[in-house]
Amino acid sequence: MKVSAETILSALGKPAADLVTAVAEQAQQGDTALYLVGGLVRDLLLGRENLDIDFVLEGDAIAFVNRLAGIFGGTRHSHAPFGTAKWILDGEVAHRLALPFDDLPSHIDFAAARSEVYAQPGALPTVSPGGIRLDLGRRDFTINTLALQLSPLAKRGRILDFYDGIADLNRHLIRALHHGSFVDDPTRILRAVRFSRRLRFRVEPRTAQWMQAARPMLKRISGERLQNEIALILNEPRPERILLKLQALGVLEHIHPAWRVNPQLPDWFARGREQTAPWETAARDLTRLYWHTMMIGMAADDVQSICKRLGLPQALAQSMTAGARLIEQAAQLKDPSMRPSQLTRFLENSPPIALQTAWLVLLNEPISRQRLETFMNVWRKQRATIDGNDLKTMGLRPGPRYRMILERLRFAWIDGELESEADEQALLKQLLK
Ligand code: CTP
Repeated sequence: MKVSAETILSALGKPAADLVTAVAEQAQQGDTALYLVGGLVRDLLLGRENLDIDFVLEGDAIAFVNRLAGIFGGTRHSHAPFGTAKWILDGEVAHRLALPFDDLPSHIDFAAARSEVYAQPGALPTVSPGGIRLDLGRRDFTINTLALQLSPLAKRGRILDFYDGIADLNRHLIRALHHGSFVDDPTRILRAVRFSRRLRFRVEPRTAQWMQAARPMLKRISGERLQNEIALILNEPRPERILLKLQALGVLEHIHPAWRVNPQLPDWFARGREQTAPWETAARDLTRLYWHTMMIGMAADDVQSICKRLGLPQALAQSMTAGARLIEQAAQLKDPSMRPSQLTRFLENSPPIALQTAWLVLLNEPISRQRLETFMNVWRKQRATIDGNDLKTMGLRPGPRYRMILERLRFAWIDGELESEADEQALLKQLLK
């Protein structure tokens, strides 16, 4: 199929389209076959916004990017074993091309057309040079195998569609190219669900069977790769629907046998997008909040083990586990026999994001929410009026008693036992006896 490249590219917006044209002109001068590929072509044809520009060329991508940087500026990052190179755009590139920098993508990716062989299921592939057809044939779904040729000039505007990608775009189908696709790369199981929810496409029945059959292969995938896939899901506008679908398909439990997401997740995530806890002032990190909320309802020990499976950074894992533990023990929050000082002790062990998560998920527990809020706004900040220096001046020898005394005074304030400095002095006198 041949279309006007200009018509398709215009969906990119003029600055990015001009940038692509400038790159294409360089390829035309060198008579190098150059193609726009992957998700961008899919999205341009669907009329969806995307500025993730991926080029494949039949030739040396690293040398080509060196040439572009030589002519237009910018910096380069290349990865010789895969024959890929990234051109990172800067103000100089924008200036030389007379384009507004703010409307350009931050970088463009280039790859030499290649084929891949998977030595073992789930391993990263071994790469060898190939033509565009082989390159497109190694991809996950038919809708991602489309390419728009931009060079040489005589072929500009040709759409390459070897696997019926356009028909599947029209039929709203996610279809894998062959039965081994998910065994080669089980992360594609998560990708299929992510794309199908994002685009509101159906997974074609045979593809769905191949996915189900390949689920056990997920155990071979490294934590880091799974974590990346989950992070991509959490970046989608409605991640909850994808996570629940993965659960319904039994995918989560193949990643970790204890992994369940709570049926209330849609409600919690929606609230996380819309509401902030009353004490929150700093800009929030929604993805981090999702990570924490996603684990609510599971035992803290299971959360810890899932975090380990996903290879999450220690600090995030600890905080997610603390969040799960907090909810596990949340009954304390509404227990009338719990004194404010006891709650303070309990809540002080949890990072602020865990408290935000608790506030979100305890929507129907007004007393618990109120106490969380009072903790954050009042109890947490409460101090005795005297400090260690005052104790020293009184002639008390420094030691662990200092902390015990100051903490006792602080907790007495929190519990409302003290109303004035005189009360505090009286209690101090008693303690020093
Ligand atoms: N790809 C694949 N198998 C994977 C990951 C990627 O075959 N496990 C292929 C896809 O065909 C995709 C291309 O590599 O078109 C680039 O990957 P990526 O940038 O993740 O795909 P996009 O479709 O651009 O995804 P998104 O729209 O989420 O950016």
